[in-house]
Amino acid sequence: MLPRLLILALASATAYAGGADLYVPRCPSTATAKFTTQIPSGNPCPPTTVDLCYTNKDLSLVFTAYGETNYYFDPTQETNGDIWEYEVMEAFIYKGSDAPQTYLEYEVNPNNVTYNAFVYNPSRDRAPGTPFDHAFITDPFGDGFTVNTVLNKSKGTWQSSTTIPLALFNGENPRGTVWRMNFFRTITSPSTYPNQQLCGWKNTGAASFHITKPFGKLIFV
Ligand SMILES: *[C@@H]1O[C@H](CO)[C@@H](O)[C@H](O)[C@H]1NC(C)=O
Ligand SMILES: *[C@@H]1O[C@H](CO)[C@@H](O)[C@H](O)[C@H]1NC(C)=O
Repeated sequence: MLPRLLILALASATAYAGGADLYVPRCPSTATAKFTTQIPSGNPCPPTTVDLCYTNKDLSLVFTAYGETNYYFDPTQETNGDIWEYEVMEAFIYKGSDAPQTYLEYEVNPNNVTYNAFVYNPSRDRAPGTPFDHAFITDPFGDGFTVNTVLNKSKGTWQSSTTIPLALFNGENPRGTVWRMNFFRTITSPSTYPNQQLCGWKNTGAASFHITKPFGKLIFV
């Protein structure tokens, strides 16, 4: 087994020395982030994929949840409600190469309801006693976001297709730019709520999504 420091050095070399975790192409080609494990335990999660591509104006994300059995949401919750208490798929998005202190938190649930906020997390890990705040995007569809959600209960899937305006990140015509992102999925059911399985692309090492150093590095090509 490699010493921990060496592993950390290798991990940061992968993240920063020119390489990327994902090379995002212009639409209609896509690159896929796939994850199958829980945060932080690494225990199995039903698979989740996020297919990404860009146009000059928008980032396209197609979230697909496999092995879904619960489709659990609160039907009274609307845009920017606390949908993360139930089942959601999420993207944390930042344009830039460093570990962000502010980033978009985007979520969608099986009821096609979305959560859209910029997070202010100056400690980068939601450290106790430090600020942690959300600035909501109050009119996402007026701003140009789109979303469409299709459930297939016989197949055990739900798929949400989203576009997010790149202008939100001062990121139009993004070819050649570097981004940091992480993707998540929460799983719960009427019998386990409010406990959740937390599934994620890059393991944050804690039962929290708001730890930005492990975010993946993406290059738009
Ligand atoms: C999902 O919500 C968006 C925004 O309100 C709407 O445009 C779209 O038609 C909805 N799709 C479904 C399948 O409900
Ligand atoms: C759901 O998936 C099944 C199996 O792949 C497929 O036959 C069916 O057409 C799908 N239903 C919808 C509504 O897409």
